[in-house]
Amino acid sequence: MSLENTLSEMTHLDRGATLAPGERIADRYEVIRHLGTGGSSEVYLCSDLEQPQREKIAVKLMSHSEEELFGPGVHEVNVARFLDEVKISRILSHPNIIQVHELIRTECSLAFTMEHIEGDNLAELIASNSSMPIANSLYIFREVAKAVSFMHSLGIIHRDIKPDNILRAHDGRVKVIDFGTARMEGSLGIQGEIAGTLSYLSPEYLKDGQLDNRSDIYSLGMVAYEIVTGSLPFTCGGVIQTLQMRLSSDPPAPNKKNCLCPPELSNIILKTLERDPEQRYQNAAQVIEELDRYFPEVPVKSEATSISRKNSSKSQESTALPTEKANQGFLQRVSNKLRLIFAE
Ligand SMILES: Nc1ncnc2c1ncn2[C@@H]1O[C@H](COP(=O)(O)OP(=O)(O)OP(=O)(O)O)[C@@H](O)[C@H]1O
Ligand SMILES: [Mg+2]
Repeated sequence: MSLENTLSEMTHLDRGATLAPGERIADRYEVIRHLGTGGSSEVYLCSDLEQPQREKIAVKLMSHSEEELFGPGVHEVNVARFLDEVKISRILSHPNIIQVHELIRTECSLAFTMEHIEGDNLAELIASNSSMPIANSLYIFREVAKAVSFMHSLGIIHRDIKPDNILRAHDGRVKVIDFGTARMEGSLGIQGEIAGTLSYLSPEYLKDGQLDNRSDIYSLGMVAYEIVTGSLPFTCGGVIQTLQMRLSSDPPAPNKKNCLCPPELSNIILKTLERDPEQRYQNAAQVIEELDRYFPEVPVKSEATSISRKNSSKSQESTALPTEKANQGFLQRVSNKLRLIFAE
């Protein structure tokens, strides 16, 4: 589907209200429920009417902003970006990256189908559970680092690694989503713009538009910081003040904000957040190596990790104990490992 064809066949634009259960996309995908809203899309859980036996899928439907409906050129850029998102996502086949299936053309928009993840995005998890157990934070950190390492190995920079773009399934799986701003390393990108989300962008990208893999490493560090401490490093003051602090000061150590955070983990996070990209980990494989060195992989049980914002207080009680136990077990293993290293 070329950009020219797509644009010429999209005869009218419609901002599109949120679809209700039972409504259809492209006469084929029946909406079961709304899953999420992004800056440029709505995502729905759907059944495929042509293959009713197939597992339920997620459909991301491009929505049109006011600016796009009336601003010249904006529509073309957004359509090109959406097509790129599908193209790039389909190159990526990895357990920690969402699997995208097909591009769909609707009467006045575009959509694509992908695997559905039953769970929450990390932003929802952070909001509902400000003190996530360290074992869980570490697990998510490593899984996202694996996804980042894989996409970088194929020359793809995500540019928008942030909690909203990371899903955690109820069974514990972690998936990076939303390649809407991703681009191939070295390519100019659409109109050479700065894309991504302000709070997670690297200092060099913010200041000079300088972009390489290390920018994603910084954003990965921001996510790790947030899940370990419950907040971003600089939150005082307004947006400008916060940005200035990010450009000019080092973040407070995560273990100062959360005393349960082991110093080694705190140091790894701080190294991902070095303001000078030369001082940062140079690739995500180095981050994984460091994590493996101090914290051998620990499988986290689903019941210990499925913390839903929709949980009643009763069900929260029932998840608290196994989570705590998992955490204690993990800390025990970590301190054993540290003792071994120390003995060596
Ligand atoms: N495959 C999926 N399974 C379950 N939920 C999903 C899936 N894909 C997206 N979502 C939900 O929909 C939300 C929006 O999706 P996505 O980030 O892809 O949209 P976007 O318009 O590109 O967002 P942005 O504002 O980052 O540009 C996600 O944060 C997530 O909660
Ligand atoms: Mg998103």
